[in-house]
Amino acid sequence: MKMQISSFVTSGLTALMVGLIGAPAAQALEITLPQETATLKPSTMPGYQLALRNCTACHSAQYMQTQPPLSHEWWEGEVKKMKKAYGALIPDADMSAIADYMSATYGPGKGADEANAKSTASASAKK
Ligand code: HEC
Repeated sequence: MKMQISSFVTSGLTALMVGLIGAPAAQALEITLPQETATLKPSTMPGYQLALRNCTACHSAQYMQTQPPLSHEWWEGEVKKMKKAYGALIPDADMSAIADYMSATYGPGKGADEANAKSTASASAKK
């Protein structure tokens, strides 16, 4: 009788330990990141790799994406500001390529056809 109880307790403990150790590991596998906003939008433009390398150290990619569709000039100024004001280590030679990529991907270039269609429509509607 004594033996039976202790083996019951032991197997119970083993099951508990497996449960404790096993459960968090299984849950960790279910975590999925929102890919589209967590990273920069992939592109074949050279500025994509440069932006990944130079722009995501201090703030998230999402932070950079939540800007209105701003011009190439604005992005160029922004890259300069990151370097001058905030001390980002961006090689001068890479700065305009990053602005190219950012403005094409998140500037007016993003869905440019749509934006043009809308502004043409509203311009002619105002007349
Ligand atoms: C050395 C750190 C650092 C690096 C590297 C960096 N930034 Fe920033 N960035 C900042 C800081 C600090 C802010 C301001 C945060 C705030 O106002 O809360 C900022 C803000 C921004 C903003 C929001 C608008 C604004 O002007 O405040 C954008 C867009 C941005 N960064 C883009 C970029 C891009 C593009 C790159 C790569 C060329 C880059 N950042 C690299 C530090 C950095």
